[in-house]
Parts: sequence; structure tokens; C-alpha cells
Amino acid sequence: MKQRLQKLIAAAGLASRRKAEGWIADGRVTVNGQVAELGVQADPERDRILVDGRPLPPAEEPVCVLLYKPVGYVTSRRDPQGRPVVTELLGKVRARLFPIGRLDLNTEGLLLLTNDGDLAWRLSHPSHEVSKTYLVRLQGSLSPQARQQLENGVQLEDGLTASAKVARVRQAGSHTWLELSIHEGRNRQVRRMCEAVGCPVSRLKRIRYAFLDLGGLRPGQHRRLSRDEVARLKDL
Ligand code: URA
Repeated sequence: MKQRLQKLIAAAGLASRRKAEGWIADGRVTVNGQVAELGVQADPERDRILVDGRPLPPAEEPVCVLLYKPVGYVTSRRDPQGRPVVTELLGKVRARLFPIGRLDLNTEGLLLLTNDGDLAWRLSHPSHEVSKTYLVRLQGSLSPQARQQLENGVQLEDGLTASAKVARVRQAGSHTWLELSIHEGRNRQVRRMCEAVGCPVSRLKRIRYAFLDLGGLRPGQHRRLSRDEVARLKDL
């Protein structure tokens, strides 16, 4: 069956759909000896598809893993500085998995990884507005005005954030704990939002991603999502 090239490249676990589109635009993909253009469709069983001169590997079985990322791990497959990376924690999972989005080095919690480029593309696309909830520890207390600002949207260097939900605010000595739910995925967004309202973050843990939570996992542990869970993620 003919399918768009970027979808086939993503299904083979080589890259996300978006990245594959870049490869096609850069002329790195050929179909039956001809440089492919964006929008071209091909049949992996009949057509000879090459990326950088190498044949497309057969589509891997799609896998999606939910990892409890510990603090101190880089969200990547490799780190040029030699720090520990999240994929080291996946033990027996043999598929080449890529993280969906990222958590900072010092952020812990729920991270999804997959070789399913289609799933990664759907979940990372800003228009899909997947809700992500963080347990946040702030230095100091959260004034009603600061809370309102977080909820309404905060002006950051890269523009106004969308409205967020604040829940379960609890003061503990010189710190405040709260749950913050956002549906954007900007770089260091939670830390920057809290800092912008005058409350630096001293601990950050992602506790929910859409309908998924960490369940009984401990830092460094993971589990494979069921087919049903993957289908629900694709339907979001
Ligand atoms: N927001 C942050 O500031 N850091 C993360 O790791 C995730 C969301």
C-alpha cells in the first residue's frame, strides 16, 4: 500500500515524521533512484526507498514506554558531555526509542519514549494540547495574585503562555507545593512561568501526561504501554 514517505520513515523508527519531512526537503531520500519531493507516496513492498543511500529498514513493532525519569538523567539517546541518558534505563527493551518531548536534567517524573514516529508526531504537535501535570515545590509562598497570573497566562520572552490550572496549593514551612497543569511544551516552561511570578522552583516532577500517571513506578523504573493506552493517546 502506498503511503507518504515521512510516515514510512517514521514507522521504520528512523526519525519523527517532522524530521523525515526535513530529510525529504533536503533531498536525502530517493524512491526508485529518483530524489523524492515532499508529498510523494511509495509502497515499501514494491518501491526501493533509500535514505542517505541506505535502504529503509523494515518497520519495527511499535513500542511505547512510560519511564519514571530520575533527576540527573538527560532526555536524549546520547549526551556529548557523557552524562547519563534516559535510554540507559530501559534495560531489556530492544527497540530504538526516542523521547516524546523532554524533561530537564533536574526534573523527574513521567516521560514517554517510543519508536512510533506517528505517535510522537501527534503528541508533540502544539495543536493537540495534551495536558501535562507537574508537582511543583516553590521557594516562598504563592500570593493570590501570582496564582491568578499563572492561571491566566504569564508573559515570557517567547510570548504569553496559555492559561494553566493550579491545584492543591499547600504551604510547608518556607516552601509551597502545588500542582500545575499546562498543555504547551515550551522549553523549561514551568520553571520560567513560576520564576516570572516571583517564585523560583526548587523541585519539579511530572506526575501526569494526558490520562497516564506514574502508578506504582519508582525513579528509574518503566513499563510498556498497552495497545489500548497507545490507541487512546492517538485518539486524543
Ligand atoms: N517545565 C520545566 O520547566 N521543566 C521541565 O522539565 C518540564 C516542564
